Amino acid sequence: MNHPRTLPAPAADLADPAFWKQPPAQRLARFAELRSEPRPVFFTERRATRHRPERGFYALVRHADVLKASRLPRVFASAPGVTSPEPARWVRAVFGDSMVNLDGADHTRLRRIVQQAFTPRLLAETEASIRELAVRIVDDMVAERPDEFVSAVASRMSFEVICAMLGVPDAYRYRIARQIDRASEHAGVRRSLGARLLSPGKGLRALARMELTVARLGRERRRRPTGDLISALVCADLDGERLTYRQLGSFFSLLLVAGVETTRNAIAHALALLINNPDQHALLLSDFEKYADGAVDEIVRHSTPIIQFRRTVTTRYAMSGHTFLPGDKVMLLYASANRDASVFADPDAFDITRDPNPHLGYGGGGPHYCLGAHLARLEIKAVLRELLTRPLTLRTLGEPELGTSNFDHRVRKQHFAFDVTKP
Ligand code: HEM
Repeated sequence: MNHPRTLPAPAADLADPAFWKQPPAQRLARFAELRSEPRPVFFTERRATRHRPERGFYALVRHADVLKASRLPRVFASAPGVTSPEPARWVRAVFGDSMVNLDGADHTRLRRIVQQAFTPRLLAETEASIRELAVRIVDDMVAERPDEFVSAVASRMSFEVICAMLGVPDAYRYRIARQIDRASEHAGVRRSLGARLLSPGKGLRALARMELTVARLGRERRRRPTGDLISALVCADLDGERLTYRQLGSFFSLLLVAGVETTRNAIAHALALLINNPDQHALLLSDFEKYADGAVDEIVRHSTPIIQFRRTVTTRYAMSGHTFLPGDKVMLLYASANRDASVFADPDAFDITRDPNPHLGYGGGGPHYCLGAHLARLEIKAVLRELLTRPLTLRTLGEPELGTSNFDHRVRKQHFAFDVTKP
């Protein structure tokens, strides 16, 4: 056996939900300890019994290891699933396979269909509308004086952009927003049996409703295409075949969940990061266009909105002092890789002038590298421009209310206030 059998204390055990309830600073301290271990550490999720084998994962915590595993998809596969728990076979049969969970040609075939819409060249045409949206959101904020930032600004920005790209009519948006929240609320949060019994399949029900809504939209667009992503998806030619409504549904939920939660959390973290680092805030204000791109990358590195994704080992492979075996599970901890002191000087500091800033917030650069990375940058920059270059003085009120997921670094609420004056 090449891993220890004793379980660490809950506060140090990445497989224990208690670990993810700790403040981020404590989790980051544990990642630093793990980075100094000679080899990847194994965490047990379920002990072996006479009838069942042990289940658990190796934590990949160093920048170099996460990068390598991301770029070796033949060894570290995305099938049967990159989240934990993995999607059950029946869920995949009912809801369709999402491209995040596919490898090789199956993945490429699906990714090719939407890839076009996300290239920097095509997004340049969308940039003007993203900037207009940011102006409207901050105008409304100033007029309505909300006291909670996530719902008033961060969520609205990321959700409206994706809905506009997909071509979701206004009449459907409120319903879909509620469905996404329900579908992703418990992602990566291990709940007690009691809690699971009380709300059986709440997330799946929301997903099912969302997919029915999308199938209806898909049928409309197949009859009358309107130049948006849903029309492109339903009319796409997959080597002579069409996407089924089930495939359309799973595409749609992936784009919504991947594009909305992540960017919204980055924007929400940005507010606290800038206010808590007044020197960096002042530097950004001194020349917004010069420093904004660096600030956006540093926000994503420092907050790491997606904490981790998993992979399954397909073949015997030696890396970082350990030999992985087929069937082993590994956790690619982007949140740890982004604080690796061997790559980032003073890694806990928020420094918008880092250059280079090779963070892994959007993944490690393999075939699954975030499709929406450029779009996310445009959105975060547009919101920051409106918030920071207008005569507003923003204040956070209290600490952000964080989620307890091991998957997304969610800000549930961030209370805030502002004065309309010259800073
Ligand atoms: C700050 C915002 C964002 C962050 C931090 C983020 C992070 C990530 C990460 C870590 C991955 C996995 C990469 C890998 O496995 O190598 C990913 C994949 C993905 N992201 Fe993002 N993302 C963001 C915004 C977006 C947006 C706006 C969209 C737009 C729809 C999007 C769509 C996707 C899709 C479709 C995938 C799966 C790609 C594939 O499997 O081929 N993301 N993202």
